Amino acid sequence: MVAAAPAIEPVDLGPIHIPTPVVLSPMAGVTNWPFRVICEEYGPDGLYVAEMITARALVARNPKALRLCRFAPSEKIRSLQLYGVNPAIVAQAAQMVVDGGMADHVDLNFGCPVPKVTRRGGGSALPWKMDIFRDLVSRVVAVCSQANIPVTAKIRVGIDHEHETYLEAGRIAQEEGCAAVTLHARTTAEYYGGHSDWHRITELAQTLSIPVFGNGDIWGAEDALDMVRQTGCAGVAIGRGCQGRPWLFADIKHAFQGNSERINPNLGEVGRVIMRHARLLVEFFDGDEHMAVHDLRKHIAWYLKGFPVGGSTRKAFMECESLADVEREIARLDPALTLPERVIDAPRGRVRYAKKVHLPYGWLDSRSTTHDEREALFGDDPMDAGY
Ligand SMILES: Cc1cc2nc3c(=O)[nH]c(=O)nc-3n(C[C@H](O)[C@H](O)[C@H](O)COP(=O)(O)O)c2cc1C
Repeated sequence: MVAAAPAIEPVDLGPIHIPTPVVLSPMAGVTNWPFRVICEEYGPDGLYVAEMITARALVARNPKALRLCRFAPSEKIRSLQLYGVNPAIVAQAAQMVVDGGMADHVDLNFGCPVPKVTRRGGGSALPWKMDIFRDLVSRVVAVCSQANIPVTAKIRVGIDHEHETYLEAGRIAQEEGCAAVTLHARTTAEYYGGHSDWHRITELAQTLSIPVFGNGDIWGAEDALDMVRQTGCAGVAIGRGCQGRPWLFADIKHAFQGNSERINPNLGEVGRVIMRHARLLVEFFDGDEHMAVHDLRKHIAWYLKGFPVGGSTRKAFMECESLADVEREIARLDPALTLPERVIDAPRGRVRYAKKVHLPYGWLDSRSTTHDEREALFGDDPMDAGY
């Protein structure tokens, strides 16, 4: 017998109403507006978050950072994610967002595990220092509340299992006025290895009164139902599972409506999505077809994942330089091919463990910072943090 779909209620983040609380999790280099638009067309009432933007770069009006802040006219909720270590700089970036009417929602990144970020105390390393974490959240909430913009925080379980931070971080985020928290239930040390520990999502959802979005290892609609069933989370956030599969948002919506309909497009349909994605990327890169097609290559690898198309076809796509090249290669595909059943909801994207967690010197010795430590740390706030 098929289990009934768990009840999932709309979630309100301040003035923002999310009828189906299914979130496109921010992914650097992936969730720019062309990809968000395509996802939103499949699941028109979720939340689609932009990739992380480094606060310092935004404050400096770095053109790359400003490009990441753009939204398509069709996007109903303009959702930005800010990253930074220095609370004053992140608050300044938030003020820019408020003054420029640049977004409807601000998410704060406390989940990034990459060494370039954690060695400066950023991303998933930051909640360990409760003083900086509280200060950063409270300043951004204060700025965003001027314009009634809800702020949310995206966190991990902690640095490793000896240094877990998620329960305190969740509590602090709630106390300081965050509208919701998303938990990617891995530690920094776990990086993308193993399986996200959904028990931690249960625990956080039971601890907080604000909505908790569960994140990690949703590869198909059934996983989304299972996560809600098992953890009682208010909504789910999807990262790697939708790489090359934007229709997953439609599948998940159907599943929550108790509908077993799933989208399994043939290669002809996938080819049309690829071409649409390509054209939108050309717009995103202000007409620069070369940049667009280079950016598209990783998406093509994901779109074709699991299809029995052969290595030479994949290689030909990876050598495309123009829209005409992409179109030509798509025309060579067999449009009737479908994904074999066993690979439809299989894991995709990054899966490895961290070799070593990189942190500032002496980071784990205490949960708070001295004046000198903060000075040293904030001077080092990067311009170009990225995943
Ligand atoms: C390529 C890539 C880029 C990512 N970039 C971001 C980011 O900019 N901000 C963020 O909070 N998380 C980022 N993440 C983490 C995802 O949002 C998500 O938390 C993680 O992949 C776990 O969810 P999943 O199992 O559904 O993929 C990134 C993940 C990947 C694979």
